[in-house]
Amino acid sequence: MTTTTMTTAAKSLSTTTTSPPHHPFVLSHPSDVDHRPTSTSSSSSTSASPRRGRVVCITSGKGGVGKTTSAASFACGLALRGRPTCVVDFDMGLRNLDIHLGVERRVVFDFVHVLNGECNLNQALIPDRNVDGLYMLAASQTRDKDALTLGGVERVLSELTSRFEYVVLDSPAGIESGARHAMYFCDDAILVTNPELSSCRDADKMIGFISSRSRRAEIGQPGCLSVSQTLLITRYDPVRAEAEETLAITDMKELLGLPVIGVVPESRDVLTCTNLGKPVISLGEGNPAADAYMDMVDRFLGQEKELRFVTPEPVSFFKRIFG
Ligand SMILES: Nc1ncnc2c1ncn2[C@@H]1O[C@H](COP(=O)(O)OP(=O)(O)OP(=O)(O)O)[C@@H](O)[C@H]1O
Ligand SMILES: [Mg+2]
Repeated sequence: MTTTTMTTAAKSLSTTTTSPPHHPFVLSHPSDVDHRPTSTSSSSSTSASPRRGRVVCITSGKGGVGKTTSAASFACGLALRGRPTCVVDFDMGLRNLDIHLGVERRVVFDFVHVLNGECNLNQALIPDRNVDGLYMLAASQTRDKDALTLGGVERVLSELTSRFEYVVLDSPAGIESGARHAMYFCDDAILVTNPELSSCRDADKMIGFISSRSRRAEIGQPGCLSVSQTLLITRYDPVRAEAEETLAITDMKELLGLPVIGVVPESRDVLTCTNLGKPVISLGEGNPAADAYMDMVDRFLGQEKELRFVTPEPVSFFKRIFG
């Protein structure tokens, strides 16, 4: 579909009845962010930045695969790399991101309050106390996903992207309303999967959904590029993969046909960090899960980095003998 044949959904978002070239979107046309410089030198890239930030959706087909864990660490990593970032909980009625970031007691207003004009964005944004440039917008705990409207979500995202370089959406699993709204406006989608067949099969459905039902897909080429989709494999255990007890990275790449943006090892530190209210990436260099998330952030920002923690650790002579 071209810009001149907008869908009903996109038409309903119009602020004017005139047709493109002056496109009628509230959230600016996706091509506005398609030529962002990808170097990691944030200060030099800011002046060349396009008019709005990128919307990055962390999504999955299957639930419980590590989306919220990853959204918290990814957003934190972007801010640590000097990129102003807001991470938004889209899991309406079942929010969790505030716990992962340790801000649950500071939530007063949420996404739906902003959407309904019951508060302004400043009142709802929660700045992180440890990382400069990192903010969170909570999901509503009392009102469910039916409170979301396409026009309302677009307005809030438009305001967020005018202030942040990256807006990271922690989507609920699957294709119900919250997930559909998160996916619809995204510029990048990070598909989170565990190394198991059911997780991959459900991810495959999401990939198809994003390819055909996002706003970028509806506008179509050459108007804008399609959503850039990448795969984040979490809870990877190289020993089990080598023993063929779980899928290996190559299996998943082959099954899903997406580039791998990161592989996060199975780690006991993840749950400990969640309970302490800090993203696992904050454990810093030397912690495998934290390193894996930082590598993922760097790849996302355009650096080439080898995958780490994807082969079994060599077992020492003494460990082999004495266990
Ligand atoms: N790398 C990891 N190693 C060990 N456990 C992990 C890892 N990543 C996530 N987990 C665990 O997996 C569980 C689910 O994580 P999380 O809540 O982030 O998933 P989710 O995809 O957001 O779930 P939902 O679909 O319910 O929103 C949590 O118990 C978390 O601690
Ligand atoms: Mg979640």
